[in-house]
Amino acid sequence: MTDVLKETNFHSLGRKKTGKVRDIYEQPERLILITTDRHSSFDRIIAHVPHKGQVLNQTSAWWFEQTKNIVRNHVLAIPDPNVTVAEKCKMIPVEAVMRGYVTGVTDTAIWTRYQKGQRIFGDLTLPEGMKKNQKLPVPVFDPTTKEEGHDRALTPQEMIAEGFITAELFERLKQTATKLFVRGQELAAKRGLILVDTKYEFGLDERGTLVLIDEIHTPDSSRWWKLDSYDACIATGREPEYFDKEFLRLWFKEHSDPYKDTTLPEAPAALVEELSRRYIEMYEQITGGKFIAGEEPALARIAKNLKPYAI
Ligand SMILES: Nc1ncnc2c1ncn2[C@@H]1O[C@H](COP(=O)(O)OP(=O)(O)O)[C@@H](O)[C@H]1O
Ligand SMILES: [Mg+2]
Repeated sequence: MTDVLKETNFHSLGRKKTGKVRDIYEQPERLILITTDRHSSFDRIIAHVPHKGQVLNQTSAWWFEQTKNIVRNHVLAIPDPNVTVAEKCKMIPVEAVMRGYVTGVTDTAIWTRYQKGQRIFGDLTLPEGMKKNQKLPVPVFDPTTKEEGHDRALTPQEMIAEGFITAELFERLKQTATKLFVRGQELAAKRGLILVDTKYEFGLDERGTLVLIDEIHTPDSSRWWKLDSYDACIATGREPEYFDKEFLRLWFKEHSDPYKDTTLPEAPAALVEELSRRYIEMYEQITGGKFIAGEEPALARIAKNLKPYAI
């Protein structure tokens, strides 16, 4: 099996913070973001998926390039398939969620809330009788707070009152996220995909300019459906075909208690391989480019490519 990038421990790159998926090295004015192959679910790491880190890093890189005339982004350099050198920004503690379809099953999903009777979402008031997976008349900005533990679905007024964001900045986030989402949907459609919903993170640079940070339109931050079968699925009441990671979650639910067990069983190699294949397929379908795996072993390659960034 190809090697997987589980974690890094570079001593010359700055103080390390460990995210769920990324190792982040903090330098005075920049961050070294190393996207690993860690795969998280149930608030923990459930597997290491070959090539996943590269897919996420390079998919984001592609989208940052496609959207840089809409908003400035944090990318300074991409010295390695798994690494982005980013401008360090002051994080805005709001997850800028954009939704294009009435879907989802979790508590915060728009379909769940619609079923419970909610009709007002951002600037939109939805009619009665909408069906699951139906397209919204226009995309809706549906932000949550970004907090330790659980993100909360506060109203814009509450977010502003609780000091998460100013009214002026909220408006700028909404405008920018909407433009990014529309661009994403247009480009996805050209590639036979529907960008269903997504989440952006933004920061501010020293001069207070809005900067798009973190990741954009990846298989992890966004939901994707296949365009060509969507209408037929809706017409016959089936779920749209999509980029699906659920099968691995299901395996863990069947073979463990993933929210409680201290150690989890190891996922079957065949399932992990299948997930890896699907990530690569997503990269190729989204970008229209061929996926070329970085040289292995990845750790040694990254160490070499990051030499110029030692501090
Ligand atoms: N340019 C940036 N400036 C500051 N923070 C950033 C920037 N880009 C990404 N981040 C933060 O770095 C982390 C990325 O690591 P990740 O593994 O995705 O974390 P998480 O577990 O929070 O999703 C996120 O917390 C994200 O908010
Ligand atoms: Mg993240």
